[in-house]
Amino acid sequence: MNIQWYPGHMTKAKRAMQEDLKLIDLIIEITDARIPYSSRNPDIDELGKNKARLILLNKSDLASETWNDAWARWFQAQGFHVVKVNSKSGAGLKQINSVVQEACKEKIERDRKRGILNRPVRAMVVGIPNVGKSTFINSFAGKACTKTGNKPGVTKGNQWIRLNKTLELLDTPGILWPRFENQEVGKKLALIGSINDEILNKEELALELLKFMMRQYPEVLRERYGIEEGEAEKQSDGAEEQILAKGLEQIAKSRRCLLKGNEYDYKKAANLFIDDYRNGRLGRITLEFPKEREE
Ligand code: G4P
Repeated sequence: MNIQWYPGHMTKAKRAMQEDLKLIDLIIEITDARIPYSSRNPDIDELGKNKARLILLNKSDLASETWNDAWARWFQAQGFHVVKVNSKSGAGLKQINSVVQEACKEKIERDRKRGILNRPVRAMVVGIPNVGKSTFINSFAGKACTKTGNKPGVTKGNQWIRLNKTLELLDTPGILWPRFENQEVGKKLALIGSINDEILNKEELALELLKFMMRQYPEVLRERYGIEEGEAEKQSDGAEEQILAKGLEQIAKSRRCLLKGNEYDYKKAANLFIDDYRNGRLGRITLEFPKEREE
């Protein structure tokens, strides 16, 4: 499985973002807390040089709390401001205003010295597809916001949202980058739903998730689907593939994913398993860890 997905509209959106960068003070980057590293578009570091930076670990309710904290420290050590949020429930959003002021304090001070008082911080909100950018904007800006339409110099399509006297947001479309050099990144993006499902081989993807879950959370697999560790298979050649295939079969069995003639419907089982993961039904599961980045 080689995952690549960079539809044409993303190239255009990136160009638009590039043009609008001159208008903003801060980049608010939304990531999925289950894969905080892989859900960051590397192009943003390039585009965002010289801008204040805030990373939101969104969907923190779906990721392990211990790892959320570890990732927050990891990004902070690299000079980013970080807030853990759950845009669906609103948890963590209240902290954002003060962190934004802190992240932009040099700019605010510069303005003050020039006699410019109360100019709002302008932040560009970026994030790859499905990390929860729309949910975040809706909960954070809520009904209080007014969409200000086009301002001079703002690329058509990108939307300004006036939040309050101190903050204005520029919404941008969710974009990925042209090539996933590391396929592990591609797979993780596929697992959290950032890649168009239609181009994916869901059965292979489900086996990848099974592999991870068997190593890290075998008890979840046992409880939810009745998957036992394959002691017999461990002894034989090609053990891992056999164990994984049996695991998927067990998911199909436990969820009665059957085709006509009582054959197992592996495709349905794979979709169901991935869906369970995406929606948090397997628990709060982080897929990557800061220590892997230091190797
Ligand atoms: P996008 O603009 O970045 O593409 O993402 P969007 O806001 O559409 O959110 C994608 C999905 O993620 C939505 O679920 C949304 O409810 C969910 N989501 C966003 N933020 C959070 C969060 O912090 N925690 C959790 N648990 N979920 C979050 P959906 O299944 O597409 O829709 P729905 O089930 O909410 O209707």
